[in-house]
Amino acid sequence: MNELERTIEWHDGTVMMIDQRVLPLHYEIKTYTTYQGVAEAIHTMVIRGAPAIGAAAGFGMALAGLQSKARNSTELRLELVKAADVLRKSRPTAVNLSWAIGRMLLAAARDDLWSVDDVRAALIHEAQKIADEDVAINRRMAEHGAALIQDGDTILTHCNTGALAVVDYGTALGVIRRAHEQGKRIKVFADETRPRLQGARLTAWELMRWGIDVTLIADNAAGHYMRKGAINICFVGSDRTTANGDVANKIGTYQVAVLAKENGIPFYPVVPTSTIDLSLAHGDLIPIEERDEREVTEIDGVRIAPIGVKVGNPAFDVTPHKYVTGIVTENGIAYPPFEVSLKKVVKS
Ligand code: MRU
Repeated sequence: MNELERTIEWHDGTVMMIDQRVLPLHYEIKTYTTYQGVAEAIHTMVIRGAPAIGAAAGFGMALAGLQSKARNSTELRLELVKAADVLRKSRPTAVNLSWAIGRMLLAAARDDLWSVDDVRAALIHEAQKIADEDVAINRRMAEHGAALIQDGDTILTHCNTGALAVVDYGTALGVIRRAHEQGKRIKVFADETRPRLQGARLTAWELMRWGIDVTLIADNAAGHYMRKGAINICFVGSDRTTANGDVANKIGTYQVAVLAKENGIPFYPVVPTSTIDLSLAHGDLIPIEERDEREVTEIDGVRIAPIGVKVGNPAFDVTPHKYVTGIVTENGIAYPPFEVSLKKVVKS
């Protein structure tokens, strides 16, 4: 097999993923046959990006069904709850993970499923449905978001929100991709996105493959270009958006949003409704993942910081809603007051 058509695919009882840790220098495909393997792939970021993580958790639950030696559907359902706990702990911030696991547990709980094989079939069907829906949702978001882009615009983006961050197409990068497909002449500034460099490794690679004009910049260059008037609009993704419109996204997004507001530049997160968590009133309630300090003290295994230095490595930050111009979803664009507009887009 040369390349996968999607970031994650189900093939005859196995889950295949593009290994995002080694792109763009190597294109490698990993194959998983256990849910524990999928949980590890999420934790180590073989697969990353909120919607892709959700899809991976769905397929992980389907593998848990196939792995099980349960003698009846009741035993199997108990084992699925254990698998769900393991998968849920793999990364804490993206709400898509627990959202997808919740859907899988519900699918397995249907009372017309009598045998172990019935439950297994329902799990595989639901996981595939989550993946297929994700692609359709991205395309709808892209259509809404692309309407905000004018011919000749220069766009700033942070982290990677392309096809790699989802099952296929992209969220914020999907919006940019759609504008390009519509024939708009656009340019993109991609933040490198320390410490994992998703912007440098993945966004630059995807945009170049799609034939979109991209300039890679260090994260701390964003303000410089904004102040010089080089940026017209910002699009980013989100791992969890709360009821008041606060947006958790890759570390560094907050400073992009503050700089954008200071420079009068619109700032739009692009967010499938599966990423909106109306159960949380505001962003301070979102669990923020703290990752291994070596992501900061080393680059590709080469130590760059003094041995023994204290390190902080939050993987995400929260952008308060006052910096958010609007939130692009598959059901339209929500504008302030977000308490009202987000409820509407989630329901529709
Ligand atoms: O740590 P990552 O690479 O999983 O973080 C990804 C992001 O922050 C994206 O912006 C987010 O998941 C939404 S994009 C689909």
